[in-house]
Amino acid sequence: MKRRIGILTSGGDCPGLNATIRGVARAAYEMFDAEIVGIADGYRGLIEGEWQEMKRSQFSGILTLGGTILGTSRQPFRNMQVIGEDNVDKVAAMKKNYAAMKLDCLVTLGGNGTHKTANLLSQEGLNVIGLPKTIDNDIYGTDFTFGFHTAVDIATAVIDRLHTTAASHGRTIVVEIMGNKAGWLTLYSGLAGGADVVLLPEIPYDIKEVAKVVEARAKNKKAFSIIAVAEGAMTKKEAKMKKKEREAARLEEGFNGIANRIAKELTEMVGVEGRAVVPGYIQRGGSPSAYDRVLATQFGVHAAQLIDRGEYGFSVALVGNNITHNRLADIAGIPKPVPVDHQMVKVARDMGILFGD
Ligand code: F6P
Repeated sequence: MKRRIGILTSGGDCPGLNATIRGVARAAYEMFDAEIVGIADGYRGLIEGEWQEMKRSQFSGILTLGGTILGTSRQPFRNMQVIGEDNVDKVAAMKKNYAAMKLDCLVTLGGNGTHKTANLLSQEGLNVIGLPKTIDNDIYGTDFTFGFHTAVDIATAVIDRLHTTAASHGRTIVVEIMGNKAGWLTLYSGLAGGADVVLLPEIPYDIKEVAKVVEARAKNKKAFSIIAVAEGAMTKKEAKMKKKEREAARLEEGFNGIANRIAKELTEMVGVEGRAVVPGYIQRGGSPSAYDRVLATQFGVHAAQLIDRGEYGFSVALVGNNITHNRLADIAGIPKPVPVDHQMVKVARDMGILFGD
């Protein structure tokens, strides 16, 4: 049976997007008479009607390639049903372009925001399949997203390198790991990199507790400390504030990122040589790890199998060791923070790693 598939990648990029696109495309070409349309820059291309007919050869040689061959953009879900100054009804435009492309289905690769719009389009009657992407690993209903393990490898390699230089100079290095709302990446890379302190958005910290560890290590002839902090971590006091209030307080403080703040505070409080390191987008760049290539391929093939069976309105997922799928309506937009009693948190605590609480 012939099926015409539109594919888009939306939101922040991550390693494994191309591997997943390739997985969908190759399996689709193998399994049925597939035609594939590449939509430019996520939902922007769907709204504005920017797309191209893909050739089979365009999916070749992209397994190891970072980023996305289709391009991406952030199109916040909260604006999707709002008609702005340009007077464009975005939902109507997406439905019109879906019809103009003569699609049998739309495959969306993205995170929580992407899934919310995918669910909206599915409820509007389009045939949609979601694939869970993000280095943050914060999509409900799947144990892991593709891109996460590569980012863990990169962040761990950063911490490893900081370890040797921190030890040589006896410094306290605070490394800021990506993750605004979820601390999965910091938790995993902090554990893998042997950090002494791990600070997550889900577990508000007290700087005095962090200082105690650094001080105790210094007394113990461990002149250096490594602190892995998620970019979205906050103090106990900040956690009690509303978002706007917290932002105002940080503006007043001259806040320049969480790692910079903590490094400065520890220098002042303990007298150590504190340093901040922010690897930033390095964590999202480059080639996917072997784990993510396998996961991306499994996810992509599963999406093609759903298309083959004409089953739509799902997001592909990894649950235990099985590749499966959830109804978009059941998972779209539900966050997946690190549970404070998660077994990984317990493992870290039992190893003597401090969470600053
Ligand atoms: O969602 C992944 C992520 O890397 C977050 O960890 C981070 O807060 C955010 O994207 C930043 O992305 P951008 O600067 O591209 O909006």
